[in-house]
Formats: sequence, structure tokens, C-alpha cells
Amino acid sequence: MVDMKKGLIITIDGPSGAGKSTVAKILAVRLGYRYIDTGAMYRGVAYAAMRYKMLMPEEPDFDVFLKNLRIDFDFKDKTKVFLDGEDISEEIRMPEVSMIASRLSQNKKVRDFLTRKQREIGKEGRVILEGRDTGSVVFPHADIKFYLDAKNHERAKRRFLDPSEKGIPSDIDKVREEMEIRDREDSKRDIAPLTIPQGAIYIDTTGLDIDGVVEKIMGYIRQKI
Ligand code: DC
Repeated sequence: MVDMKKGLIITIDGPSGAGKSTVAKILAVRLGYRYIDTGAMYRGVAYAAMRYKMLMPEEPDFDVFLKNLRIDFDFKDKTKVFLDGEDISEEIRMPEVSMIASRLSQNKKVRDFLTRKQREIGKEGRVILEGRDTGSVVFPHADIKFYLDAKNHERAKRRFLDPSEKGIPSDIDKVREEMEIRDREDSKRDIAPLTIPQGAIYIDTTGLDIDGVVEKIMGYIRQKI
């Protein structure tokens, strides 16, 4: 039985454009939980690496960069990211940051650095973690795990229409092409690849509206609390 004071650890994984962030945000408000956007954390490190020209994680300099990195997160409503105290929550949504995040997230040092932070933040419960490996690696013993997916054309359309995406190409085919490259990189990497976590509830959100997905997930969560 779940300790209600502690609350649940809920994970939502899946590829970009599957509706994870939107759904996780609504669920967090409904449940009074914290919403941890782990993608924003990878993007924060990517933006810092871009700013400080530390794009070679194999180089020894990168270890020093990671050790001295002053990156902070605030999970009040959306995940805000601060670099050296400066709010970079908007900048991390740029397409070049997406590509660097996907590349750097293949590196073990970067993953260990952020996985440690995510476990620290989530261990007290009452959290919804959203990302690519939150149910497989970060919290394999989470109370309830979801995997959201959708057909490629629908995911590209959602990303294309998402107002939080900055400087997104004006051509939907280009969005789909970039998305598919990133999906391939995220799924094929050696460490913590995007995968359906063991015991996760798989939901295909193609053709479903947000409320439909939220209700479906809330149905499963109610059985736990
Ligand atoms: O969800 P997003 O598009 O904001 O994520 C940006 C990148 O970060 C994504 O390409 C892969 C990486 N990522 C990851 O490797 N593991 C996570 N848990 C979350 C994101």
C-alpha cells in the first residue's frame, strides 16, 4: 500500500510530441505533486555546454566544466532552469539546444550527473517525472509508470503547433525529419535509451485529446491511491 503522506512517484516516458509534458503538468496540478521535466534538465546542461563551448564530453575539460557547473532548477509550476543564477528557461527550447541535448545525453558523465539530481529531487515522493528513462533507470521501482506514444505525423504536428518551441522550422516536414533523427539517437544510444520501462502502462495518444489522456491516466492512478 502507498504511504499517502509520502505520496507516489509517477513516471511518464516517451518520445517527443507524445503529449508527455502537457499531460504531466495537468496531472501535477490535479494531484498537488511536483512536475519534474527531466528533458529541461538535459537541455540546461546542453545550453551551458553551448555557452561555454564545452561540446566534447570525452575531453578532460568537460569534467571540470561539469564539476563547476552552476545549474539550478525550480519545479514550482513548470521546470525553470537557471545557469549562474540567470533564468535560461526560454533559451533551452531552441532547436540547436535540442540537438546538443540529444547528443550530450548519450554521455555517461552527463547522465550520472542528472540522474543523481533527479533521484535526490524525487525520492520524497509526490512527484511526476517526465522524460526518456525516468521509469527505466531513474526510478525503476516507481509506484506507477506510463509510456506515452503517438504516430510520427501526429507528434510532428503537435511540436509544430507548440507555442513553447522556439525557432521551430516553418515547414512541418522539416520538423518531422529533425524529430525522427533525434528519436533515433535517443533510442539507439548505449546508456539509458528511450525504451518502454518494465511494467509501464503503454498509451497511444494518436487521435486522443489532452483531457482523454489525462482521464485515462487518472483512472490508473486512482487505483493506487
Ligand atoms: O524531452 P525533451 O525534448 O525536452 O528532451 C531533450 C533531450 O534530452 C532529448 O533529446 C533526450 C534527452 N533526455 C534524455 O536523454 N533523458 C531524459 N530523461 C530526458 C531527456
